[in-house]
Amino acid sequence: MAQVSLRNISKVFSGGVKAVDKLSLGVENKEFMVLVGPSGCGKSTTLRMIAGLEDITEGQIYIGDKQVNDVPAKDRDIAMVFQNYALYPHMTAFENMAFGLKLRHYSKSEIIQRVNEAADILGIKHLLGRRPRELSGGERQRVAVGRAIVRKPLVFLFDEPLSNLDAKMRVQMRTEINRLHIRLQTTIIYVTHDQTEAMTMGDRIAVMKDGILQQLADPVTIYDYPVNKFVAGFIGSPPMNFMDGEVIKKDSRLYFDEGNIQVKLVEDMYQKVTPLIGKEVTFGIRSEDIYDKLFVSEAPPENIVRVNCEVVEPMGSEAYLYLNTGRHIFIARVGAHDRPKINQDIDVVFDMSKIHFFDKETEKTII
Ligand SMILES: Nc1ncnc2c1ncn2[C@@H]1O[C@H](COP(=O)(O)OP(=O)(O)OP(=O)(O)O)[C@@H](O)[C@H]1O
Ligand SMILES: [Mg+2]
Repeated sequence: MAQVSLRNISKVFSGGVKAVDKLSLGVENKEFMVLVGPSGCGKSTTLRMIAGLEDITEGQIYIGDKQVNDVPAKDRDIAMVFQNYALYPHMTAFENMAFGLKLRHYSKSEIIQRVNEAADILGIKHLLGRRPRELSGGERQRVAVGRAIVRKPLVFLFDEPLSNLDAKMRVQMRTEINRLHIRLQTTIIYVTHDQTEAMTMGDRIAVMKDGILQQLADPVTIYDYPVNKFVAGFIGSPPMNFMDGEVIKKDSRLYFDEGNIQVKLVEDMYQKVTPLIGKEVTFGIRSEDIYDKLFVSEAPPENIVRVNCEVVEPMGSEAYLYLNTGRHIFIARVGAHDRPKINQDIDVVFDMSKIHFFDKETEKTII
């Protein structure tokens, strides 16, 4: 069993930088856990503490039932794959993959068997005789992953392993790592700043900001129920649209009033929203929850807003409209063939059952 448990771990670097702040996180056996967050939020530091490459300032780390705070990296039964591959340039792919096993005094036949098995899984058997400079970026990445696989570790740690690859290769390797996880049935902790990778790979996602865990949940929960404005804006592409405004009451109905546009709230939300009446709030709506009225057969008039279409970005399978209320610019994701003219005023419909409100001060989710 290889569950990993971080209990209130913090890391303060000399100089006083608090890179990780009281992080508690339980990774289950065989789980694919993704740590995601913007640059500098403490992802690599967390991973390096788990690997034993960095001292822990405070807190405990358990791998299985064992507290490993003072266990040296080489004895932690963990394999780490780095962003820059860190392959030995003078060694062949085979030698690179075999190196860690040699250091651990595995027999020659065992080494050959393990390297071949890993190469088979990764589809790189024909490349084993080549040196890194004779390999493409994607092939090097596979060798780096292979070097981790041959160790048959309890836990794999990946630190942005795909960020040096071009966009197409990244998508391909993403699927391969997913497949690898299913095949190897091991615990994986995977660090990325790319929310798409996080969404598509993680059984669960831990979103971090400034060394602090913001939310830990499965991808769909994170997307549908972000705990605060940061998570709401970080996960999802294009990011959630935010508008500051006020909740107002008219004829016993509640509306969000942005200043230039107004939309009626659904009654299900009244209970939570009533305390906000007359207060400044942040309204949030995802781009896919906004429709061009031309393509909606029936829309309640109170959910329709007139806005100026400033930019149209065709994406092939869909199009992004950049819409201006005069106070806020927001994005609607519409059908590929929906192509309003630039600078044209258009009517769009908000799906009011999908909206969010965030406290303007604390940025916590209200609904
Ligand atoms: N050895 C170090 N000494 C001092 N500060 C450090 C050290 N390593 C990292 N930091 C600081 O700790 C914070 C977290 O760094 P970390 O490398 O964990 O971020 P990250 O989330 O992995 O970012 P990125 O996405 O850019 O890789 C940053 O503010 C960084 O400057
Ligand atoms: Mg990093």
